[in-house]
Amino acid sequence: MKFKEIETERLLLRKLRIEEAEHIFKTWTGDERVTKFMMYTTHQSAEVTRDWLAGTIKHYDEEDSRSLQWGFQLKSTGMLIGSGGAIFKPEYQMYSIGYNIAYDYWGNGYTTEAVKGIIEYLKSIGIKQIYSDHAVDNPASGRVMEKAGMHYWKDGSYTCLDGRVFQAKFYRLDLE
Ligand SMILES: CC(C)(COP(=O)(O)OP(=O)(O)OC[C@H]1O[C@@H](n2cnc3c(N)ncnc32)[C@H](O)[C@@H]1OP(=O)(O)O)[C@@H](O)C(=O)NCCC(=O)NCCS
Repeated sequence: MKFKEIETERLLLRKLRIEEAEHIFKTWTGDERVTKFMMYTTHQSAEVTRDWLAGTIKHYDEEDSRSLQWGFQLKSTGMLIGSGGAIFKPEYQMYSIGYNIAYDYWGNGYTTEAVKGIIEYLKSIGIKQIYSDHAVDNPASGRVMEKAGMHYWKDGSYTCLDGRVFQAKFYRLDLE
């Protein structure tokens, strides 16, 4: 898939920029309340966020990327409040959707709005199925999946990059 900006009612989903490392670190990647259930380990410095961004940004120029991450920017203030995207998982032959936003912005429907926008885009380019999984102890994420139209698929678990293991619920959606 190829990167494209996505506009929703309140958000612009756009490319992340390397110069935003400090902001992103202070706003969410360094905040344990946000990172607790994420695959990545809480960033200990803006340098770690910069390294992550460098890897993420590389994919924007690819014609057929298997990993894209959108920055969620509030249209009203221009504030970058989080990010989310789709990564192809060979074990399921499907794209997996993931997301995280800054703590102060939780509970306003922003993530649901962003995920719906991403799903619409994936559908428009012919992606046939997607899935997502959330820790059992993180029901807000499951609610986002439900509100974005996904359906319960199965129970399972996921292992984070640092070895933490979470019991999880998997959701999926056929886009055809
Ligand atoms: C999960 C997360 C992305 C949700 O973002 P958000 O913008 O607050 O999501 P939304 O406002 O679109 O929807 C959240 C829903 O969860 C519900 N919710 C919040 N806390 C909840 C809880 N403890 N139990 C059940 N539902 C809960 C909200 O009420 C809302 O549902 P509603 O609209 O029916 O009331 C955000 O909390 C976050 O970034 N968490 C940390 C990172 C993370 O966990 N990412 C997902 C990893 S799988």
